[in-house]
Amino acid sequence: MKLDVLLGLQWGDEGKGKIVDVLTPKYDVIARFQGGPNAGHSLEFNEIKHVLHTIPSGIFHPKKINIIGNGVVIDPVVFKKEIEELKALKVDFSNLFISKKAHLILPSHRLLDAASEASKGVSKIGSTLRGIGPTYMDKTGRNGIRVGDIFSPDFKEKYSFLTNKHIDILKQYNFDYELTSKEAEWFEGIEVIRSFQVVDSEYLMNKYIQEGKTTLAEGAQGTMLDIDFGSYPFVTSSNTICAGACTGLGVAPNRIGEVMGIVKAYCTRVGSGPFPTELNDATGENLRKIGHEFGATTGRPRRCGWLDIPALRYSVIINGVSQIILTKSDILSEFDTIKVCTHYKIDGKITDQLPFDVNVEIEPVYREFKGWKKDITEVTRLEELPVELMEYIRFIEEEVKVPVTIISVGPNRKQTIFKK
Ligand code: GDP
Ligand code: IMO
Ligand code: MG
Repeated sequence: MKLDVLLGLQWGDEGKGKIVDVLTPKYDVIARFQGGPNAGHSLEFNEIKHVLHTIPSGIFHPKKINIIGNGVVIDPVVFKKEIEELKALKVDFSNLFISKKAHLILPSHRLLDAASEASKGVSKIGSTLRGIGPTYMDKTGRNGIRVGDIFSPDFKEKYSFLTNKHIDILKQYNFDYELTSKEAEWFEGIEVIRSFQVVDSEYLMNKYIQEGKTTLAEGAQGTMLDIDFGSYPFVTSSNTICAGACTGLGVAPNRIGEVMGIVKAYCTRVGSGPFPTELNDATGENLRKIGHEFGATTGRPRRCGWLDIPALRYSVIINGVSQIILTKSDILSEFDTIKVCTHYKIDGKITDQLPFDVNVEIEPVYREFKGWKKDITEVTRLEELPVELMEYIRFIEEEVKVPVTIISVGPNRKQTIFKK
């Protein structure tokens, strides 16, 4: 069997968590491959509304195998809290595995994140301040501490050595910090991780694939936040794209099967950086209000704007997307007119290529669609969807040359329409 990959094609928060949860019954294994608790993946079913940060979104389905891969960075404090919340919901963890090679976020990584952002002033990234950047810096700088290290007799020394290094840097930043109160709960989190199955997840993943188990890789963030292909430096610190599933799980590229791209019917972005179709007006405010566009991790208001086809086409190419899953189309139900950016105008010239320089002014060129002005949140059959929405979907398919296979019409598991 092949490894299917599900990831975001915009700036994150496309609805990945909901869709992974919906698709989990089809799979034996769900594996997160990158990112950390900067992610906030929301799920809704029965009376439960839940946000996951580190744990894969297949966790609510008993007996399914959930893996936190080597490409993920784990904060033991957040992990412990997540586990406690899930325990209260009687979630079964017997099939949750953690990679030995996943890197640990230290309390001092979070401080470094805050110090780095503070030093940048107005040009700050708008980080979630979860210590993601500094942890990946230590990973690539070959200084990091991995989950497997918690079993080593000199783990505490490793911790102190790295923390002291960080303290030196914090002093250079002139950053006021307090660490001791944070360390006790961090080490409590380490004990929680120790109580789980810590494994060589690359062996496990490949064994499952060879045995014919069905496997799904769950991405975090979105393609436009990718460290290489996003709007650098306003990005996260990992490869959020399909290739990240290979490096973040130890699965070879020729093992990749379907690549499912999650696309919100409009666009949102949290944090700084270019956003060509951003609406700084009443329409943008309406999208935020109707769409409840506030960060699942930080609660920050999300910037909102119309769908951006050039950016979407870029994401489709970079990821080799084979199907698109469209979310939040129900939010557009209230709009008389819906706009889609088909091209950019840069220096008076029409283009559909994103510029290298994030400071370049981009003027979006729009095509207008008639709104459907109909509540679709109760619709369960494709035939019942308004013709205007179907036209909107057909337009996207034609523009990016990829079929839309699922249409999500609400946050609940049940509010999902399969097109094929
Ligand atoms: P993720 O990070 O990609 O998993 O997305 P988030 O969970 O951060 O943000 C998506 C938000 O939209 C969450 O509040 C979801 O419950 C909600 N959501 C997902 N799909 C839909 C949908 O089709 N319609 C509506 N109205 N909400 C949705
Ligand atoms: P999910 O998985 C939306 C954004 C931050 C910031 C930039 C860098 O829920 O889609 P970081 O904390 O990674 O150093 O922040 O990336 N960001 C996200 N935006 N959804 C996310 O995750 C995000 N994770 C990080 O807002 O602009
Ligand atoms: Mg999110």
